[in-house]
Amino acid sequence: MHSHSLILILFSLSFLTALATSDKRYDLDGNGTPDLCTTNSGGTASCLLSNGSWTTFETSAYHSGMLAISTKATAAATSSAKHASPQATGILPDPATFKRDNGTKWSIKYVGNLAFTDTLQAKRLEGDKCRSGKLGNKVIWNCGDMECKGGWTVCGFSMGPAFYGTSSVMTVNTTGISLVQANDFIKPWSGDPKPVSPQTAFGMDTSNVAVINSTHGVAYAWEIWRGASDGSFGNRGNAVVSVTLGAQKPIATRRGPLLTGPHALALGMLAILRDGDFIYTYSIGGPSGIIIGRVKASDAVFSASEYAFLKAGSESTWVTPGTIPNATTTAYGMTTSNSGGKFSCNVYGSVFFNAYLNRYVIICTAFEHFTNMYISSTPWGPWSAEYGLLNGWGVGYGSMAHPEYSTDGGKTFHFSQGPDSVFNVFKVSFDF
Ligand SMILES: *[C@@H]1O[C@H](CO)[C@@H](O)[C@H](O)[C@H]1NC(C)=O
Ligand SMILES: *[C@@H]1O[C@H](CO)[C@@H](O)[C@H](O)[C@H]1NC(C)=O
Ligand SMILES: *[C@@H]1O[C@H](CO)[C@@H](O)[C@H](O)[C@H]1NC(C)=O
Ligand SMILES: *[C@@H]1O[C@H](CO)[C@@H](O)[C@H](O)[C@H]1NC(C)=O
Ligand SMILES: *[C@@H]1O[C@H](CO)[C@@H](O)[C@H](O)[C@H]1NC(C)=O
Repeated sequence: MHSHSLILILFSLSFLTALATSDKRYDLDGNGTPDLCTTNSGGTASCLLSNGSWTTFETSAYHSGMLAISTKATAAATSSAKHASPQATGILPDPATFKRDNGTKWSIKYVGNLAFTDTLQAKRLEGDKCRSGKLGNKVIWNCGDMECKGGWTVCGFSMGPAFYGTSSVMTVNTTGISLVQANDFIKPWSGDPKPVSPQTAFGMDTSNVAVINSTHGVAYAWEIWRGASDGSFGNRGNAVVSVTLGAQKPIATRRGPLLTGPHALALGMLAILRDGDFIYTYSIGGPSGIIIGRVKASDAVFSASEYAFLKAGSESTWVTPGTIPNATTTAYGMTTSNSGGKFSCNVYGSVFFNAYLNRYVIICTAFEHFTNMYISSTPWGPWSAEYGLLNGWGVGYGSMAHPEYSTDGGKTFHFSQGPDSVFNVFKVSFDF
C-alpha cells in the first residue's frame, strides 16, 4: 500500500560509533550471503545447501567458498579468478567520509527496470514494491499492488502476488500467467470476518519470505479490509503463513486466525530475516522508529506468545510480553547512532547480512526521496548512523535489496524501488 506524502526534513549525520566484531557466519558457496546453519556440539556445524540437502563440516576447517572448491575443484579454480578474494572485507568510514567517497570507493548506478516474462511483461506489469527471498533452490519474489499499465482491466490486480525468480536479478518469471491475481500469495483464513460495507475486499501487505527449514519458509501480512468507494480501509491485524514451493508458484498457507487484532504493531512490514535459530521481525514503531522482535525458526512463529522484543534503549535485553505489543508502544525498539537516535525509515525496507562488509545491513527509504543504509554487527543493533545511498532520485519507495543474486562475496548488490510504476533497479559496488 502506498500513500504519497513528502515532508521536508534535514538529515544531519552523526559520527559512527565503534562497532564490535561480529560472530562467525558460514558461506559455503562463497556467494556473500550466509548460509542457513546450526552450530553443533563437538566443533562441527551443519548448513543447508541450495539443493535442499544439509552438509556437516568441522568449523576449524571452515573457509568461505569451501563447498564450491571441494565439490567442483576445476570449475572453482577457473571461476574464482573472476572474483576478488571471497574473504575480502571492506570497512566503511564514517558516514560523512562515505558521502565524499561516492563515485570513488563506492558507487551506485541505475541499471534498468525490473522485467517480467511473457504476457505480463508485454502488458507492462508494474506496482509498488517487489521483495525477494530464497527457499530451497528458488528465489521467491513477492510484490505489492500489482497491475498492468492502464489499470486493473488489463491483467487484473493483486495486492500481494508471488512469483519465482529467473537466473537474473533483472527478471521475474511470470511465464504462463495472464491475470496477476492468479498468483495471490497470502490469503485470508476461512474464519476471518468478511469485509463490511463500505469495504469490499481483503488486502494483504506482505513481508519478504525467510527460511525455516529445507522445505518451509515463513512470511507475514498485515491484513486489511479495502476496496471502498470512499477510499477508506480497516485494519484487521497480523497474519503469518507457512511458505512452500509449489510446482508453478510459491504457496502460502495460513494455519488459523490472525495472530493479533488491529492495534498491534505490523510484524515484519519493514522486513524479516532468518539468522541463527531465529526469525527476526522488523516493524516501524517505538522510540527509535524500528521495533525488532524474534521467535524461534520453527512452528513457534504461529504463536503470538512466543515472540520476544528488544527492550527500548537496551543493547541485548529481550522481553517476551506474551502477546504482540501495540503499535503505539514505547517499551521496545532498536538503537541507532543516527542524529536524535531515530532511524529515518518510513515504511518498507530490507535487512540482510553482507559478507564483504561483514555486517548486517538495513536499507530503507525516507520520505520517498532518500535511500539510506545502516550497518551493525548483529541483527538487532546497535546500528550505525545512516549512510546515504541515493539522494533525490525522483520518487523512491520500498527499497528492496536482492542479495540472493550477489556473486562476488557481497562486494556488489542490487536493490529495486517503486512505487506506482516500473521498478528501478540499482547496483551498489563497494571498494573499501
Ligand atoms: C546437493 O549438493 C551437494 C554438494 O554439491 C551434493 O553433495 C549432494 O549430493 C546434493 N544433494 C542432492 C539431494 O542433490
Ligand atoms: C519460467 O518458469 C517456467 C516454468 O514455469 C520455465 O519453464 C521457464 O524456463 C522459466 N523462465 C525463465 C526465464 O527462467
Ligand atoms: C519445517 O518447518 C515447518 C514450519 O515450521 C514445520 O511444520 C515442519 O515440521 C518442519 N519440517 C521439518 C522436517 O522439520
Ligand atoms: C492495545 O490497544 C487496545 C486498544 O486501544 C487496548 O484495548 C489494549 O489494552 C492495548 N494492549 C496493550 C498490551 O497495551
Ligand atoms: C552518489 O552519486 C550518485 C551519482 O553517481 C547519485 O545518484 C547519488 O544520489 C549519490 N548519493 C548520495 C547519497 O548523495
